[in-house]
Amino acid sequence: MMGPQKMPRLLQSNHAGIEEAAARIEAGGVVAFPTETVYGLGASTFAVDGLKLIYEIKGRPSDNPLIAHVLDAVEARTLVSGWDLRCSRLAAKFWPGPLTMILNKAIDVPDEATAGLQTIAVRSPMHPVARALLYAVDGPISAPSANRSGHISPTTTEHVMADFPEQEDLLVLEGGRANFGIESTVLDLTGEKPVIRRPGSITLESLARALGAVEVAQGIGQGVSPGTRLIHYAPKIPTMLVPSNRLESFLATLNEPAAVLTLDSARVSAPHIGIQMQTDASAYAHMLYSKLREAEISGLTHIVIEEPQGQDGLWFAVLDRLRRAAASV
Ligand code: TXA
Ligand code: MG
Repeated sequence: MMGPQKMPRLLQSNHAGIEEAAARIEAGGVVAFPTETVYGLGASTFAVDGLKLIYEIKGRPSDNPLIAHVLDAVEARTLVSGWDLRCSRLAAKFWPGPLTMILNKAIDVPDEATAGLQTIAVRSPMHPVARALLYAVDGPISAPSANRSGHISPTTTEHVMADFPEQEDLLVLEGGRANFGIESTVLDLTGEKPVIRRPGSITLESLARALGAVEVAQGIGQGVSPGTRLIHYAPKIPTMLVPSNRLESFLATLNEPAAVLTLDSARVSAPHIGIQMQTDASAYAHMLYSKLREAEISGLTHIVIEEPQGQDGLWFAVLDRLRRAAASV
């Protein structure tokens, strides 16, 4: 006979669930919780044990810093030094929402919250459950995405459970499917010119409208160059990004059946399996990680992604994620 199944424990996002999650975080523990981008694995920014546990559970390299989640600009300012008019403007325009700002950190922020860096990333999430949790703990929550280090970010509680089946003490707060579906835009404001370190749902174009000149960090948007990036994520099976006009000819060269993320599944024939993607950028982003995980566990040996045509706006962030997914091959 099988024993009781060991799994993280799902909490409904009602009053009792939020209270239990908040108590765990206040006791120096870790909780997986929903945000509008992807699920996070959170601990109190000031609980060193909880922060260490995040790294342990994820298998995250100790030099990769965390994002501190805050209710608003007032709370963000308690964690940073050098908050300026640009920051106020960005917060007024994009918070709560998927914009992360990197600034110099305040002296009382523990080293474990920033992987020893003198800078800190802060963002105010808009997901109502994330906000309810932030209200309940009354303090910032540091959290990376709630996936195993190097794996695809989770957009549902099922994804979180699938990545941490052995973590029976882990609490996972239900919040439905993440709306945006890709991680926040990370904007470095420590220098004179704002620099996008990770593209996301807040686009370069809308940041430029708010701030004037905005740069994009070197290496982003310049195609596949494995090894030049510090951090990759990837599906567990080989993943290839193929120009749309070469989709059929590429599939014809594959000896084994592939799961194909395509904008037109009529173009995919046996033995390959088409996974239909949406042509609208935000709909595409919303479903991307779910479809990659679906492809990963399909039993097929490869993932082939038809490269979308769009380049600007949200497509820029989507293409960044697609290139990263395919960069390990
Ligand atoms: O949408 C999101 O940002 C999600 C949700 C949970 O908020 N979080 C997320 O966290 O994607 P994570 O840890 O998977 O990605 C955070 C990124 C990493 O690439 C990290 O290196 C970068 O932000 N980062 C964090 N603090 C930084 C800092 N002080 N300087 C430079 N980069 C930093
Ligand atoms: Mg991550």
